[in-house]
Parts: sequence; C-alpha cells; structure tokens
Amino acid sequence: MGARASTGEPKAGGAGAPASRRIAVNTGGGDAPGLNAVIRAVVLAASGRGWDVVGIENGYAGFLADAPGDIRPLTPAAVRGITHLGGTILGSTNRGNPMDWPCELPDGRIERRDRTGEILEAFERLGLDALVAIGGDGSLHIAADLAARGLPVVGVPKTIDNDLAATTLTFGFMTAVETATDAIGRLHSTAESHGRVFVVEVMGAGTGWIALFSGVAATADVILIPEIPYDIDRVCEKILERERSGKRFSMVCVAEGAVPIDGAITMKTVPAGRDRLRKIGGIGARVAQEIADRTGKETRSLVLGHLQRGGPPNAYDRLIALRFGAAAVQCVDDGQFGCMVALDPPHVRAVPLAEALSEIKAVPVDGDVVRTARALGTSFGD
Ligand code: F6P
Repeated sequence: MGARASTGEPKAGGAGAPASRRIAVNTGGGDAPGLNAVIRAVVLAASGRGWDVVGIENGYAGFLADAPGDIRPLTPAAVRGITHLGGTILGSTNRGNPMDWPCELPDGRIERRDRTGEILEAFERLGLDALVAIGGDGSLHIAADLAARGLPVVGVPKTIDNDLAATTLTFGFMTAVETATDAIGRLHSTAESHGRVFVVEVMGAGTGWIALFSGVAATADVILIPEIPYDIDRVCEKILERERSGKRFSMVCVAEGAVPIDGAITMKTVPAGRDRLRKIGGIGARVAQEIADRTGKETRSLVLGHLQRGGPPNAYDRLIALRFGAAAVQCVDDGQFGCMVALDPPHVRAVPLAEALSEIKAVPVDGDVVRTARALGTSFGD
C-alpha cells in the first residue's frame, strides 16, 4: 500500500559539499517507450551528485495509503539494464487523478474526492525535495496543480501522441511512428498481392502526428488526420484514380481522432473490469466500410492500438529520454521548479509547465511534412 515504505534518512552534506537531496520520480498516464530510460537517467544523474531517488508507484497512487502502489528506493543497481525495456518499472495509470479520486462509500456509492493534501503531507513526511513527474498532458496537468500548491515539480514530456506544446518531440513518439511505419509497410505488400484497400487506424488521440509521420514514411496513398477534416468522396476519388492508372490497391492511414467534414470524432466502448469506458476509436472500420460501399473494392481495416505503445524504445527515443532525465536532475540542482524539460534542438531546455500545457500541439496543416506529402501525391481527403 502507498506511502509506507521506509526510504532511509537523507544524507548530510559535508563542509562545502552540495546538500543531499531526495528526489521522487513517478510515471503517469498511458505508457510510452522510453519511460524506463528516463527513470534510469534520473537515478544515475542524481546518484552522481550523491542524492537519493525514490520511485512512486502507479502515478500518484503510491503516495496514498489505501491505494495500490508503494514508494521504493531507486538505487543505481535497481535501474541497471532497463534503458531498452518498454513499459515502466514503476507502473502507470491514466485513471489516477488525486484531485478527483474515486472513493467507495459504505453504501457502495462512489464519491470523488480531492486527495492532494495527503500527497503534500506524504511528500513532507518522507523528506522529499523534488518530484520528477514523467507524463503527458493529463499527468502534467496534475503536476502543475501540485506545483501551484507548493510542490517542487519538474515535468518530463512523455506521450506517443507528440501533442505537448513547447517541446519539439515527446519521447515515445518516434518508436510509435516506427512501429506504425513497419505495420503499414507489411500490409502494403499483401494489399498489392490481392488488389485490396487497407485502412490502418493508428493512435494519436486528438492529433495526427503518428498518422502523418508513419503515413508519409510508409508511403500511404491517403492520410486522414484530425487537423484536416476529410470528405469520404475525395478519399474514394483517390482510390479510383489509382485503380484507373492500374494500381489496384491502396493504403489508407487514419488517425484515431480523424473527423469527416460533416461529422464528429468516432468513439468506442471498451471494457474496464466491470465498468465500461468511452474511448476514441473505431474510425478505421467506418472508413473501410464507406470505401467498400462507394468503390466496390474489397477493403479491410486494422487497428494497431497498443502495439504502438509497447516494446523497446528505438535509439532516438532512448537518447532523448536519457537527455530528459539528466536535464530534469539539472533543474532540481538549479532549484528550477514548476517547469518541464523540453527538446529545442540542439538543446534540452526547461520551459514553464504552464507554457507546455497552454494548448494541445496540433499538426501544422501548412507545415513541411504535410506539404511534402501533398507534393508526392498523397491525399488528405480534402
Ligand atoms: O495518449 C496515449 C494514448 O495511447 C492515445 O493515443 C490513445 O487514444 C489513448 O492513450 C488510449 O488510452 P488507453 O490505453 O486508456 O486505452
């Protein structure tokens, strides 16, 4: 259970030595390749300064006494050999907002409570000096709220969706793009053999970064992203035009958040224990059905789903994850809090959390990647 683990006393700094610190690190929201690399970098960079690191399990749950998850010491030995591992050794959740925590009442009803006070109290009791919060939009909003209530927080931008502002890239994105590119490439050859249309639905929440990058890299014929609402007739025109020129197959890459010009985002219901959750998804099957109906072409759809989140980070994600982790510890050393480390090539800089969370970073519709795709004949269905 949370907030019970003994983590030892902070070390005393000698004369002239930097004061010893104790840093907490957690991972929140949907996982992304590279989380373990950040954790390792935080632990090793902190250890190099003689500081201790503790890991908070399952987002913020580890801080709460009755929630699943503990607080555990993270020594250099504890993070040995994890850079290349997918997932997170600390566990994560995207249903654990301490400001809106579901508490079961004796009569079985659920009441939502703000449990921030317990986190602040645990932080104090454990003698922690800083929290390195590794998360996406949702988790970093929680971190920003905690920062506003006095917690010294440094954020690290994680998400396969790449939708955080103020950073050129989030770690996890490039690996997801690679996975999706590989999948579209494999489907390409079978689509060609059978003269079929394939519709591949990729993740990205409300943005089209994964669809755009993987669609272009895998030479999809049609790419549908939320930033450019599509007209299904234009999509079918592209497929039929290819047919007329002797190309009997087509590859369509659709972002899960893509929207038709006259419609809304497609949602699906997924089981979560006895609960049911509403999630973005289902657009791939819908587009495939509409293409089949309008063109008469045999059309199949595939949802890549969590394959894009799993597995080892690629070299690029390992590199930026390690850089982010080391930079977060530098922020702690500099006493710079309420910030997020951000990639601003060739640098990693600290930016205010408020700036990073000011908006969702959408694909620029007149940006170079979209223009490149258009120049190569790719249709966006507009
Ligand atoms: O934000 C990351 C992400 O993978 C999105 O791309 C996707 O819409 C969502 O999380 C899926 O969440 P869950 O794992 O809860 O289904």
